[in-house]
Amino acid sequence: MIVTTAQLFKHAYGKYAVGAYNINNMEQSLGLFQGHIEAQAPFIIQISKGARKYAGVKMIEAIIRAAEQMYPEAIYAVHLDHGDEKTCYDCIDSGFYSSVMIDASHETFEQNIAITKRVADRAHAKGLSVEAELGKLGGVEEDIKVDEKNAQLTDPVEAKEFVQKSGCDSLAVAIGTSHGAYKFKGQQSLHFDRIEATQKLLPGFPLVMHGSSSVPKDEVLRINAAGGKLDPSACGVNENEFKRASSLGVTKVNIDTDGRLVWTRVHREFFRDDPAGFDFRKPGEVFVQEYAKFIVHKSTKLGSTGQLASLRTALKAK
Ligand code: G3H
Ligand code: 13P
Ligand code: ZN
Repeated sequence: MIVTTAQLFKHAYGKYAVGAYNINNMEQSLGLFQGHIEAQAPFIIQISKGARKYAGVKMIEAIIRAAEQMYPEAIYAVHLDHGDEKTCYDCIDSGFYSSVMIDASHETFEQNIAITKRVADRAHAKGLSVEAELGKLGGVEEDIKVDEKNAQLTDPVEAKEFVQKSGCDSLAVAIGTSHGAYKFKGQQSLHFDRIEATQKLLPGFPLVMHGSSSVPKDEVLRINAAGGKLDPSACGVNENEFKRASSLGVTKVNIDTDGRLVWTRVHREFFRDDPAGFDFRKPGEVFVQEYAKFIVHKSTKLGSTGQLASLRTALKAK
């Protein structure tokens, strides 16, 4: 059942985080739904501009509609990830999406507010909610100066002003994470002081954490042992920190890279072990199973495992 992102956030806020996964094809979708049924966890399907281009808008939507029929027990929202203004309007008008993200974080503070407000006004008129982004997510490296590091992280006072003026419904904040497999060298912690300060100024307001893959070392080593050339010192977010973050208002956690690593490991190992093979359904089946397992694991870390029954009751009570 597709629900609004706001409904998911209302149920999760302060208790657990909803996992948001980028989906590009049928195999990922099967694993995503199967894993969440097993975990009895709600989730958010994220569609990026790249996914819309890769699969085609009609195809990616049809895959999700088909999955909805195959897994009627699932409860989830459909979200545009990192949209520009035009793509946000396309998705708002399509009637298929629960929410959109307008990513104008590269603009000035004022421009970001103005663009986000235009999108929020149009989305709200159609019952969708809007995620915006404030701060710079890109690689907060250990060797940069403390002042510089602080400047890249989201300022809580600015976050409050931004939310009030833009009318957005959730905010992606820079709290020490970044996209991709090479986030930082050596383990780093989330900037809990920032999260806490932001929550104090915006109580009850859902915060979003992008760039939340953990880039598991064993996954990287298995990929490299099967012919890959990933930097083995690559390091991601400590997934044991998700629960503390969710207790401080982080309600949506975006994960894409870790799923790509599962795909890469499965296919590299498969063809290493069966170099004469060419039936793509064989590694495809393994991938669906492994992706489902990965979802079950992430749901435990996010605290979303077992939340479906109480969410269903809450949705009925409305
Ligand atoms: O943050 C972006 C996601 O990882 C989606 O990546 O734009 O290559 O589809 P993509
Ligand atoms: P990762 O690259 O850490 O998986 O982040 C994904 C993301 O933020 C999608 O919006
Ligand atoms: Zn992102």
